[in-house]
Amino acid sequence: MDDKQERNAAQAVFGIIGWPLGHTLSSALHEAAYRKLGMNAVYSAFPTPPESLRDAVRDIRAKGLRGINVTVPHKVAVMSFLDEVAAAAAKIGAVNTIVRTADGRLVGHNTDAAGFVLSLAREGVSLAGRRVAVFGAGGAARAVVAAAAAEKAAEIRIFNRTLSRAKELADAFTAPERPVTAFPIDDARDGSADADVWVQTTSVGLSETDAPPVPLDHAAGKTLVDLIYRPRTAFLIEGGRRGAKVIDGYGMLVYQAAEAFRLWTGLEPPVEEMWSAGLAARK
Ligand code: ATR
Repeated sequence: MDDKQERNAAQAVFGIIGWPLGHTLSSALHEAAYRKLGMNAVYSAFPTPPESLRDAVRDIRAKGLRGINVTVPHKVAVMSFLDEVAAAAAKIGAVNTIVRTADGRLVGHNTDAAGFVLSLAREGVSLAGRRVAVFGAGGAARAVVAAAAAEKAAEIRIFNRTLSRAKELADAFTAPERPVTAFPIDDARDGSADADVWVQTTSVGLSETDAPPVPLDHAAGKTLVDLIYRPRTAFLIEGGRRGAKVIDGYGMLVYQAAEAFRLWTGLEPPVEEMWSAGLAARK
């Protein structure tokens, strides 16, 4: 083997599966960590249409990839192709990180919930004892509700266009010490008026012309979080104008990546390097 072949043989391969995968910042985040820690590793994008998901997981096994991130639309479907799903990810109902164990088993985890909590902590926001309003009840909302429950929020209210979906999510996380309740999104104006932290998890805002999905009359003094990080959403722009503290989804993106890195390598993720590399790649 020449030098290059030797290097390649020892190289750890990580990556991401999703569809489409046009604008992922994950490569920039993870490769910044490999650079900082001097690791011989690469992070590749594997665009995977839904009908190829089973084959993609088979390839991950066959090629001995060390770790894979999973993004839209595979976070739920991928679970049935894994050897094991960690309890917390099973409760959320979605996997965003697959870890290959030393004996070659593929285990599904979810780092979105931890990423959410850590991104708020960076901004000095804790969910402990707070009343939390969540707009939306899809996969992203499930991770947020799991995080709020784990952080001992006092109360969680879920507002969704499709009430049955909100109810199902509320039922999964409600507990005597922490009521989780479901409402139609049309009730959000009054129903979130006394909540301290509002979390926007719907896809409304991905298009620059989208109006906020809920009225912001009572936003002053609240913390508004939008999981969307690009473009800046009307929810955050208008909320900020009304005197809310606003946090976008960039922090959650970076911290879910950092926690995936930790699971794969057992190393402390160099978050600041990841943070600035992602910002640079975003431009
Ligand atoms: P994700 O995994 O990103 O959460 P998802 O599971 O498709 O994606 O969920 C999308 C969320 O955005 C849902 O809460 C959806 O509401 P429904 O459950 O009623 O479909 C919400 N959503 C999407 N478009 C919306 C719109 N125009 N107005 C209000 N909510 C919307």
